[in-house]
Amino acid sequence: MRHVALTVIREEHQALAAMLRSLSMLLAQSRREGKVPDFGLLRAMLFYIDEFPERLHHTKETELLFPRLRERCPDLIPVLDALDEDHEQGERAVLRLEHALLAFEMMGEARRLEFEAAAERYVNFYLSHMGTEEQTILPAAEKHLLPEDWVELDAAFARNKDPLTGHQPDDAYRPLFTRILNTAPAPIGLGG
Ligand SMILES: [Fe+2]
Ligand SMILES: [Fe+2]
Repeated sequence: MRHVALTVIREEHQALAAMLRSLSMLLAQSRREGKVPDFGLLRAMLFYIDEFPERLHHTKETELLFPRLRERCPDLIPVLDALDEDHEQGERAVLRLEHALLAFEMMGEARRLEFEAAAERYVNFYLSHMGTEEQTILPAAEKHLLPEDWVELDAAFARNKDPLTGHQPDDAYRPLFTRILNTAPAPIGLGG
């Protein structure tokens, strides 16, 4: 049985993982070449991460999927608590990261290491968070949630479309999406 909710979560995870890897690659490349990175592109990426996954994706997990799972799988409550805690921290972490990026842009090389270290921590934190969801939470949902749970979840997730996963983007996010896609290096974008 294919559930829209799980498909949306998995697609958003893939898009987000590609975005995070692309961010790491940009930083590694700029360090190798001894140049400052494309700050406009980095700002666009962090803004996107802040708007879409942090606010929409996590909100749907925390408000819709996780409460159902708490009911149906009490064994998973400690794992769900930890993931909810990640969601809360993640929003603060991306704001701190945006500030560290601004510091690098305004203050120059003296603030590069600090931003790079923060970005690496954030990327690792995020990838491991999504790994737990993929390996533990989604399979448990598939196994234990009831049909009436899925009706509600699928409807809610169907309204939450992310442009990077190939769905029609919200008009408001279209210019940002296009800009990231045209400037970012592979695997996410078309830029060099
Ligand atoms: Fe999550
Ligand atoms: Fe997630």
